[in-house]
Amino acid sequence: MSTLHFKGKTLVENLHLGVPYHELVPVRGKGLSKKASLDDNLIVSGDNLLGLKALLPTYHGKVKCIYIDPPYNIGTENWRYNDRVNSPMMQEWLGKVVDREDLTRHDKWCCMILPRLKLLRELLRDDGAILVSIDDNEVHRLRCIMDEVFGEDNFLGSFVWEGTVKNDAHFISVGHDYVLCYAKRIESLRANRTRWRVFKEGVDEVQRMVEEFLENRQNDFEAASQDLRDWFSSIGKSHKAFAHRHYKCIDSKGVYFPGDISWPGGGGPTYEVLHPDTGRPVKVPAGGWRFTNQETMQQAILEGRIHFGSDETRVPNLKRYLADTDHQVLTSVFYCDRRAAHKDLVRILPDDDFEYPKDEGVIRRLLEAVTSDDDIILDSFAGTGTTAHAVLALNKQDGGNRRFILIECENYVDSGTAERVRRVIKGVPSARDESLKAGLGGTFSYFELGNPLQRESLLCDRDLPSYERLASYIFFTATGQEFEPDKVDENRWFIGNTPQVDVFLIYSSDVEKLQDLALVKSIAQELTGSKRRKLVFAPAKYVDSEFLGRHSISFQQLPFEIYETVDGLNQ
Ligand SMILES: C[S@@+](CC[C@H](N)C(=O)[O-])C[C@H]1O[C@@H](n2cnc3c(N)ncnc32)[C@H](O)[C@@H]1O
Repeated sequence: MSTLHFKGKTLVENLHLGVPYHELVPVRGKGLSKKASLDDNLIVSGDNLLGLKALLPTYHGKVKCIYIDPPYNIGTENWRYNDRVNSPMMQEWLGKVVDREDLTRHDKWCCMILPRLKLLRELLRDDGAILVSIDDNEVHRLRCIMDEVFGEDNFLGSFVWEGTVKNDAHFISVGHDYVLCYAKRIESLRANRTRWRVFKEGVDEVQRMVEEFLENRQNDFEAASQDLRDWFSSIGKSHKAFAHRHYKCIDSKGVYFPGDISWPGGGGPTYEVLHPDTGRPVKVPAGGWRFTNQETMQQAILEGRIHFGSDETRVPNLKRYLADTDHQVLTSVFYCDRRAAHKDLVRILPDDDFEYPKDEGVIRRLLEAVTSDDDIILDSFAGTGTTAHAVLALNKQDGGNRRFILIECENYVDSGTAERVRRVIKGVPSARDESLKAGLGGTFSYFELGNPLQRESLLCDRDLPSYERLASYIFFTATGQEFEPDKVDENRWFIGNTPQVDVFLIYSSDVEKLQDLALVKSIAQELTGSKRRKLVFAPAKYVDSEFLGRHSISFQQLPFEIYETVDGLNQ
């Protein structure tokens, strides 16, 4: 496979491995949940390189869909390359705005995106997928980097999103951008027989009108069908239901269009079929009947699946019900005016001047195809929180229980990103959409990045974290529940509990104390007192495996086998 080379690549290729784990510190007043929890919807404030690494212990291999919309690097976004890479060349880059004049701006962008994509891949489920918005400035470099990180066989396709027409363009009016789409492992999607489908837009509106016409006409199907045809003629091309105008007949099973009944490709059987009203043989389609013999045709007639014309001179049709074909595949090219998203955002956050939010409806449609039920969706370039809005709206639409995780580093993370989510959850009085007006419902927990936890500092005598600091990190990452400092009893090594498990941390920032094996007895006594499951984090195994098994103790060696523990707990 050919690969892309750029300045700094060798320095960042393994950067993600060395990024320290940081604590995720809950900020209660900013979330909407009574008790912050890593099992909730999440908004994380901070740089996503650190944020993604901090999520890894809890969310490794758990995310079904990643949607990101990173800076396009058009030269006006004021983004800065800020990753801590130990090299004079990279130090030189730090903190400077990346603008059009910057001759290394493409190298910087590649150095920024590569380690983040590597971490994002770690977070994806085997049957998960990542979708990345981008435009012509970086699409070709991004494609090469994604081929490298995800494997070119996992490329599923790219969407072309047409959003504007620029009539003042000198040469070509470029009004589109892209969404590149890769699977984590395409074999997993194939093994699950995955089909990405979305509900056809406008179908619900047609169904609503059909119900209304039937009610007005007291179930007179002919009259209601005529009303439906009149309604279709009255709506314009831009109406979402216009594409379904061929569904013009109604019977007791619903609305349908009279479809072709002939043998595909011609050469089908030509037996006799009688018209139900005139009793005479109807005209046989030129290609012969679709049904192999008279019996199966008769069965279809009895089931009401055949639409007969007014008399035998017309070829009958096969009824195609809207309800049977109300889902469709995603098409790679679509149109959605970019300005609408900004107008919708202003209704939610009137004081915000975020210029280019993505369209919630478009993101919702992509998520509808890729996710279901209680899947987790991650956006680590959250901006105004469109992805969270789309997840909540989709849950409201189909009764799902999906969760979102957002990361945003700018200072508007609370006033913009989180505030939008608060408002769409509680209700937006000026919204056009009724469900948004009433509030989409839901909760979220808000976290900031705390101190880094350096693996190598744990068992040497410099920078050891305090007992409570390590306890807070471990409790969160192992259980996903809020750490309650009041519960900590350092004398018993107890750091908290959940309905399933008691959690212990045998640790001290005093290295000599840690190495003192005289501790063994007191620990053993503490752990044998109850029959509940116990999870013990310790730098060394002070007791033998038989003892651990007998007393329902799961031992975890410090420092970081923590995310394996989370998997174990969930089994
Ligand atoms: C193009 S905007 C995303 C817009 C978003 N899709 C929406 O609809 O509002 C990119 C966002 O990524 C954020 N961002 C850029 N670099 C980041 C980083 N290293 N960590 C976290 N967020 C970052 C920017 O602050 C910006 O808000």
